[in-house]
Amino acid sequence: MEEQPLLTPYQMGRFQLSHRVVLAPLTRCRSYNNVPQPHAALYYSQRTTKGGLLIAEGTGVSETAQGYPRTPGIWTKEHVEAWKPIVDAVHAKGGIFFCQIWHCGRASDYSYQPNGQAPVSSTDKRITLEVGEDGKPLNYPIPRKLAPEEIPQIVNDFRLAARNAIDAGFDGIEVHAASGYLIEQFLKDGVNDRTDKYGGSLENRTRFCLEIIQAIIDEIGADRVGVRLSPYLDLLQCSDSNPNALALYMAKSLSKLNVAYLHPVEPRMVHEDGKLKVPDALLSMRKAFNGTFIVAGGYDREEGNKVIAEGSTDLVAFGRHFLANPDLPKRFELNAPLNKYDWSTFCVPDPVVGYTDYPFLDAS
Ligand SMILES: Cc1cc2nc3c(=O)[nH]c(=O)nc-3n(C[C@H](O)[C@H](O)[C@H](O)COP(=O)(O)O)c2cc1C
Repeated sequence: MEEQPLLTPYQMGRFQLSHRVVLAPLTRCRSYNNVPQPHAALYYSQRTTKGGLLIAEGTGVSETAQGYPRTPGIWTKEHVEAWKPIVDAVHAKGGIFFCQIWHCGRASDYSYQPNGQAPVSSTDKRITLEVGEDGKPLNYPIPRKLAPEEIPQIVNDFRLAARNAIDAGFDGIEVHAASGYLIEQFLKDGVNDRTDKYGGSLENRTRFCLEIIQAIIDEIGADRVGVRLSPYLDLLQCSDSNPNALALYMAKSLSKLNVAYLHPVEPRMVHEDGKLKVPDALLSMRKAFNGTFIVAGGYDREEGNKVIAEGSTDLVAFGRHFLANPDLPKRFELNAPLNKYDWSTFCVPDPVVGYTDYPFLDAS
């Protein structure tokens, strides 16, 4: 059988990976009261291979961080204790497990906030989207613009969350600075309308993000830190007038900080002559960054092998395919057919259905 680039080993700093198929962070809304549950141990261990990299779902850094129902947290002792058996289950099978930490900022609702207060953001402009991707009506509240003197507290929440993740046994953390959530609400000028040192110039808009990353590095070391960015996506009305400049500035800054990996979400791959192609914009980010590069967004076996073979990335993260195929690396190895994902069960509370009941090859 021909060797596939996706299935070749890779050294990511201190971590020896046996292949390049990464589990993308996937919110599954099954952590009741924000506490990770025992069923997550089965879910993640099903998707673990020896030497495989997994990134856990978006995990809240504080009680103001949540923006969806039943998403896990990592700000209390109870959360840390609840994560431990889940991380242990992944380590028992030889996996390398990073925890994605996030704050949703204005992409939240009164019902997820302590005392029903307004969510916080870089701005007091609300998201005016009226319908979600699933067709359900949305009604985002007017956020409260953070005062400059409140910002160190949020930076500290991220630092403590990273410390807690390491205490829970995770190998590292991924800072979620993408997809329209709090950090991106600072990064992009379509949202950030501040006039203090956290708004205006690129240097000012990236300050909050880079302060968070520096605080985490000081706490757990740069070689345990990854960063997710989406300069070219405009999710939750988070857009920038010059995404190339933002992307390059961040790639260069993160390179200087020596973080373990940079994980940009694709602007969807573009078609050229009927073939999918990694946009040049991402390639310039890759060139400017000296650590490990992970791409995500719309990949399959063929495209994943291709981008690694041509050197435009080191690793490829798979979201929906990995969600529906717990043995995805094995299926790639054998070129076996894939289970189809069922979006209607992505974010339901059920501890089994659409979560741990996708069949393995042997059983299918
Ligand atoms: C159900 C679902 C939940 C997701 N949750 C997260 C999340 O918590 N954090 C994140 O950065 N991305 C999240 N994403 C985005 C994925 O990580 C990934 O970038 C996206 O699905 C594109 O990759 P794919 O085409 O391989 O699915 C989510 C996607 C899906 C479908």
